[in-house]
Amino acid sequence: METRKNFGSRLGVVLAAAGSAVGLGNVWRFPTEVGNNGGAAFILIYLLCVLLIGVPVMISEFLIGRHTHANTISAYARLAPGSWWRIEGVAGVFVAFLILSYYVIISGWTLYYLVQSCTGALAAEQDFKAGFSSFVSHPWWPVVYGCIFMAMTHVVIARGVQSGIERFSKVMMPLLLVIIVVLVACSFSMPGAREGLHFLLKPDFSKVSTRVMLSAMGQAFFSLSLAMGCLCTYASYFGPETRLVRTAVNVSLIDTMVAILSGFIIFPAVFSVAGVQVDEGPGLVFITLPNVFHMAFHSLPLLGYVFSVLFYLLLLLAALTSAMSLHESVTAYVLETTHISRRQASALVSVSCMLLGVACSLSFGPWSDFKVFGLTIFELFDFAASKVIMLLSGIVICLFVGWRLDRQLVYDEVTNYGTVPFRLFRFYVFLIRYVIPVIIGVIFVNELLR
Ligand code: PFF
Repeated sequence: METRKNFGSRLGVVLAAAGSAVGLGNVWRFPTEVGNNGGAAFILIYLLCVLLIGVPVMISEFLIGRHTHANTISAYARLAPGSWWRIEGVAGVFVAFLILSYYVIISGWTLYYLVQSCTGALAAEQDFKAGFSSFVSHPWWPVVYGCIFMAMTHVVIARGVQSGIERFSKVMMPLLLVIIVVLVACSFSMPGAREGLHFLLKPDFSKVSTRVMLSAMGQAFFSLSLAMGCLCTYASYFGPETRLVRTAVNVSLIDTMVAILSGFIIFPAVFSVAGVQVDEGPGLVFITLPNVFHMAFHSLPLLGYVFSVLFYLLLLLAALTSAMSLHESVTAYVLETTHISRRQASALVSVSCMLLGVACSLSFGPWSDFKVFGLTIFELFDFAASKVIMLLSGIVICLFVGWRLDRQLVYDEVTNYGTVPFRLFRFYVFLIRYVIPVIIGVIFVNELLR
């Protein structure tokens, strides 16, 4: 078995963890939530959720990973040998595997749209809605693109922590930030951009209902990659000098900044095309936005071309860095519990996950009539992972760190054995013991009743 390596630098730590957090959710969900739910008022509530829920849960995952220097399943098994808490580790790795299986398929769509943009085929398309549904329901094209995306993820993971994850994050995250800045400039240069921005940012507290607050919390959770074993796994590669609180705050800030900037890209652009409604999810990025690029292409061809190519590149990079963390969460487990090499372990994860991915992809086409509890395979995986297991895991993580772990161990980890001050330690413990489990419980019930 290979020896365990840590990340080699502070920047590598922050960029790798931020890479996990920044993903499709930042681009295709957050901006629409803001626009439809009270603009700046929603952003304010979201920020509170990130600070009061996201950061404490992230710190908790970090300390479990860093203390044990082990994959998520072994981490819980070591901290609570022989007890039921170990199930939390299993849930983390399982949910990462499940999410990766459909994340690669959607990321494959992104890759397809990037290729279409580069070749100019997207600009020539007439009916984007029909084009999108005929692509995703095709029996094998989406699978081919999903496999290419999985191969890209695989190459990074097979290279290991320092020469794979850290090195690629250090290149891809700054590139992603540069692309975002260029895209914001493209979007602002479109006619009518000002109204889009105005609509996005105008605070409207009358729209803030309990449902909106709960939705902000759910979004914060998914966007920060909490409770999937990913951050715990990455933290197992943190060295003794890594400051957990500061890293959690930095990662959350980067993630939130990217989400807000995505709004600055999407809203002005969409508003520049009269009559286009701001949708969310796949409808936004694969139907609405191609319409916008199409219009821009006809009035200003260069702008339309650059805009669409960079936009899908942004999505692809964001998806890739998130997929890397999901993959590593599972690979670390396979690697550390068997006697096979990292290359073999990552190949095993890539292939088995891709097999599930094929089922997810087919559920948009030939298998769309196959339903379990009224949900297609894709919908079932998404529901189980991001609505049920993720939230339940969030509760368990807080209870585990708040009630089960030794208080001194928690203090030592978050303060690097007393060398880094953490004045809010008691407040942090109060939040994870009492407040956050209750709040997540409410979100959970709300999601189930929706
Ligand atoms: N945070 C990613 C996003 O916003 O798209 C998605 C994600 C990645 C969720 C990794 C969970 C995870 F473990």
